[in-house]
Amino acid sequence: MGFSQKHLLGIEHLRPDEITDILDLADQYVDLNRRDVKHADALTGLTQINMFFENSTRTQASFELAGKRLGADVMNMAMQASSIKKGETLIDTAMTLNAMHPDLLVVRHPHSGAVDLLSQKVNCAVLNAGDGKHEHPTQALLDALTIRRAKGRLHRLNVAICGDVAHSRVARSNLILLGKMENRVRLVGPPTLVPAQFAEFGAEIYEDMTEGLKDVDVVMMLRLQRERMDGGFIPSEREYYHRYGLDAEKLAHAKPDAIVMHPGPMNRGVEIDGEIADDINRSVIQEQVEMGVAVRMAAMDLLARNVRAERINTAVEV
Ligand code: NCD
Repeated sequence: MGFSQKHLLGIEHLRPDEITDILDLADQYVDLNRRDVKHADALTGLTQINMFFENSTRTQASFELAGKRLGADVMNMAMQASSIKKGETLIDTAMTLNAMHPDLLVVRHPHSGAVDLLSQKVNCAVLNAGDGKHEHPTQALLDALTIRRAKGRLHRLNVAICGDVAHSRVARSNLILLGKMENRVRLVGPPTLVPAQFAEFGAEIYEDMTEGLKDVDVVMMLRLQRERMDGGFIPSEREYYHRYGLDAEKLAHAKPDAIVMHPGPMNRGVEIDGEIADDINRSVIQEQVEMGVAVRMAAMDLLARNVRAERINTAVEV
């Protein structure tokens, strides 16, 4: 059927075959990224602008590297220092940038839905790099690629997503993706952090880590997102670590070959024991970062093909 998207706003808009297309192309970019010379020309001549209205280390660096390796002109807008501070609206900023003819706009914003709104106002491809508690599609895709490479498949797996699900766009995008690819997802955490309505996504909810991790293939830990909490979601970090922090004892309930994932940034000793995070036999956290660059290259490559095709069609119509 082919990859037909104009933007990458959320996993909710992707068909399973489109997810597979992105991952297959990303596999090729993993090989390229392991060579000495890491250049391809899929984005040559195109302009990519990164607009991050929230702090980011790995996601922004990953998108920047992905664009550069594919030959795009990449610009990072320092949004903290920009006109936003002077009261300009998100849409005004987007319109200004639009006048500079970007081809790809990568946007992270603290409000759910902001990236979607922006995509309606510009005439280039927009990639959501995380919007509030809503979606973080490239994170779910890089997680999927990591799982597929480690487990040899991306279906019929038991995956436990643990911790602060309520505030996590990573959890939401992963839940949707893993469901679309026919995996069984469990959400594990205290009721304050795993609201019952998440069952709507077809996930099973567990309050107890030892039960929740029993015989799973993948253990995905989430950061406790303090900046999005406005009250007492947990008694104390110590108590939280005791009940929900991933350590060797809790991990022993998962399958012996279960992999451990974390999107980063990690709070060692809060949601995960540092030794587990660094255990190269169990943890694939570094692979996730590596897959991130490849997945972003693949997503931007596929979107750029559609941008170019649409422009050719419009030119023909004129
Ligand atoms: C995540 C995010 O920003 O949503 N991090 C990331 O993109 N690597 C998860 C988090 O902040 O905990």
